Amino acid sequence: MELVEALKTRRSVRRFTQDPVSEETVQEILTYTPWVPNHHLSEPWRVIVVRGESLQQLARLRQQAVLKKRAGEPNAHMRAEKAQQEFLECALVVAVIQKLDPNPTRQEEDYAAMAMATYNIMLAAWDRGIGSYWNTGPMVHDPAVHEWLNLSGEERLVALLRMGYPEIIPQARRTPIESRIQWRR
Ligand SMILES: Cc1cc2nc3c(=O)[nH]c(=O)nc-3n(C[C@H](O)[C@H](O)[C@H](O)COP(=O)(O)O)c2cc1C
Repeated sequence: MELVEALKTRRSVRRFTQDPVSEETVQEILTYTPWVPNHHLSEPWRVIVVRGESLQQLARLRQQAVLKKRAGEPNAHMRAEKAQQEFLECALVVAVIQKLDPNPTRQEEDYAAMAMATYNIMLAAWDRGIGSYWNTGPMVHDPAVHEWLNLSGEERLVALLRMGYPEIIPQARRTPIESRIQWRR
């Protein structure tokens, strides 16, 4: 797929087929993670691929994280069940983790690189017909999730990428950029 075509056609996919994604394919997709602009070449990333029984455990943690956040709300249980189900319906989840630099400026620059690295994973997957969905939500700050992933105190959970073969590709909606471009000549 042409790069520019991938940029325009990639969508965040919510509904996946039951088809498994091979570990070789995931491994290959992940090789694109580090190929982003990265000040000081700090390479702040690591990833954890979660599938199978482990994904069932993570789905349960997601349910509990949503329940905690929505405690007292009338539809908390329904939302929590839905959140759990979303994780059970994808082929795998990739947790994208940033090593936090003690210097705030470097940490901010590293986060920019992390976002690009995450997008590289999404684009490489898209190129192979695999959809993904970037989730943050209550999970990324949940101590139980951090413990389950064995995150150190000097790490940030940047993304939980749900991945799999798309069942439905959503329509895109974007404001054309033209009205927001200023030229100074
Ligand atoms: C940093 C970041 C965090 C996101 N977190 C969530 C999330 O927690 N829940 C969610 O539904 N979508 C989340 N998204 C996905 C966006 O909603 C999605 O990319 C957006 O709807 C645009 O859709 P597209 O990717 O198909 O263009 C997140 C995206 C980014 C970049």
